[in-house]
Amino acid sequence: MDDRYFYQPALGHGLPHDPFNAIVGPRPIGWISSRGVDGGLNLAPYSFFNAFNYTPPLIGFSSQGRKDTLRNIEQTGEFVWNLATRPLAEAMNASCAPAPPEVDEFVLAGLTPTPSTIVKVPRVAESPVAFECRCSQIIRLNNAAGEPTDGWLIMGEVVGVHIAQTLLRDGVYDTAGSQTILRGGGPADYFEIKRDSLFRMRRPDYPKTDQ
Ligand SMILES: Cc1cc2nc3c(=O)[nH]c(=O)nc-3n(C[C@H](O)[C@H](O)[C@H](O)COP(=O)(O)O)c2cc1C
Repeated sequence: MDDRYFYQPALGHGLPHDPFNAIVGPRPIGWISSRGVDGGLNLAPYSFFNAFNYTPPLIGFSSQGRKDTLRNIEQTGEFVWNLATRPLAEAMNASCAPAPPEVDEFVLAGLTPTPSTIVKVPRVAESPVAFECRCSQIIRLNNAAGEPTDGWLIMGEVVGVHIAQTLLRDGVYDTAGSQTILRGGGPADYFEIKRDSLFRMRRPDYPKTDQ
């Protein structure tokens, strides 16, 4: 007898909370700064986020509905990804407020915009790592029947990388020491990367690959 709980998302999950986000988790957070054509700044977290390509480095995140970040990137073709860390968790959370486009979430969250090197969008000065990105594709997501959904995948090529020197140990990026936060499920769950959660495992026959 199968003791698994089964549901078809299209018919509803039947549980107190949708488990989808909790299962595909914890997820890295795309903390995205962007700029409107009017020059106004925007900052918001997106946990439907990941890296998808090595050469060139491509990252992507998805907007559930047409939000300010999507509109800005459509208009300017640029954005910056900022690393969300435990000391910045509350500010990251404050930056997700559903504020009108004219509201600058940097101000709302008490953060400092600092100029990027290549793109015109500033990065979060307090964040130890940032990727300057040029938008490579915006894809409206379809369902399995080929019908358009209200999800938009925004892809960007990383054209500039900023790393705090404190996170380079003998030149090697110190993920375990980064205090990176990750989004879990439910209304409020997050995880923090800690040194004691690291374990190592090498691939059997492919010592040269980085992927
Ligand atoms: C940790 C976290 C992750 C989020 N992930 C997403 C996401 O993946 N997609 C999305 O559309 N909204 C996501 N949101 C909600 C947006 O941040 C929120 O709608 C925000 O107001 C959008 O800002 P914008 O309109 O300035 O782009 C997330 C919020 C939080 C706190």
